[in-house]
Amino acid sequence: MRAIRQEVLGGPEVLREVEVERPEPGFSQVLVKVRAAGVNPTDWGHRAHGIFLGPPPFILGWDVSGVVEATGFGVTLFKPGDEVFGMLPYPFGVGSHAEYVVGPARAFAAKPRNVDHVQAAALPLAALTAWQALNDTARLRSGQRVLIHAAAGGVGHLAVQIAKARGAYVIGTASANHHDLLGELGADEVIDYHAQPFDEAVSGIDVVLDPISGDYSARSLTTLKPGGILVSLLPFAPETPAAAERLGVKAELMLVEYDHQGMTAIADLVTEGKLRPVVAAAFPLAEAAKAHALGETRHVAGKLVLTVA
Ligand SMILES: NC(=O)c1ccc[n+]([C@@H]2O[C@H](COP(=O)([O-])OP(=O)(O)OC[C@H]3O[C@@H](n4cnc5c(N)ncnc54)[C@H](OP(=O)(O)O)[C@@H]3O)[C@@H](O)[C@H]2O)c1
Repeated sequence: MRAIRQEVLGGPEVLREVEVERPEPGFSQVLVKVRAAGVNPTDWGHRAHGIFLGPPPFILGWDVSGVVEATGFGVTLFKPGDEVFGMLPYPFGVGSHAEYVVGPARAFAAKPRNVDHVQAAALPLAALTAWQALNDTARLRSGQRVLIHAAAGGVGHLAVQIAKARGAYVIGTASANHHDLLGELGADEVIDYHAQPFDEAVSGIDVVLDPISGDYSARSLTTLKPGGILVSLLPFAPETPAAAERLGVKAELMLVEYDHQGMTAIADLVTEGKLRPVVAAAFPLAEAAKAHALGETRHVAGKLVLTVA
């Protein structure tokens, strides 16, 4: 099969299209013929720095939308021909930037019929992150006020919609050119973080979702009401938990996990018309390097996706 592999760490130019052995599904696994695969910041992070995976060679990609080709021993959830989407076990189950990939059956859910594979591939990692942060970690409830940083980004634009579907009052931070989009997605207020410090603009927040970290962690804590929670997607400074305790709030760091129930909840929201991925651009698999280079600008609204013929 064709796959995008790298032999060394480096810039987008280290990504090479190569022929490799097609994987076989093991116990409880499915082999999926990839139709489209999302690209996430963790892809370009691993490409450049190895992070959790260590030194290459490796094939990147955690997001998948495609068709079940074969099932391994004991799989009952899916059969060959089923259209599925999902996130491979993060971080070591990687490898969807290829024509085929194997993963646990329970990493997948049935692809909603009202989206195509490109749209479906834009969802798994980013939507699961937003879902697990807001639903599982913060236990967001109707009527609560939520502040979502990088609200136009891959995670952010889905978090805005998930929070709205929960009945929350949603405030996002984004550059001014993304404010109209966020209004269309349901944000109640949008702060241009270039024009105004967000921590001077908002207060009385129940939940902050923060994909930025750095000085955003401490500043976000001050926007929370007592009992509120900061959910950070990147490690925060070691003094953050103590600062949170002094303010009577919580600070949690979360790492996304593969999650059949979460994927099913996401599929239901898509089917109900409450969640729609914004695909900023789609590139053929062979042009993965272009997707990485665009993503690394850090100012894409929505998601980047690779398509597999
Ligand atoms: N812990 C986990 O499991 C987990 C899971 C998913 C993602 N993450 C991490 O979360 C981060 C975001 O992921 P993503 O997929 O959403 O990334 P992304 O799509 O690349 O985010 C791009 C967005 O970030 C916004 N942005 C950049 N700097 C900003 C700032 N200072 N304030 C507010 N917005 C800013 C940009 O908004 P404007 O163009 O409007 O300025 C842009 O729309 C990444 O670092 C990723 O590695 C962690």
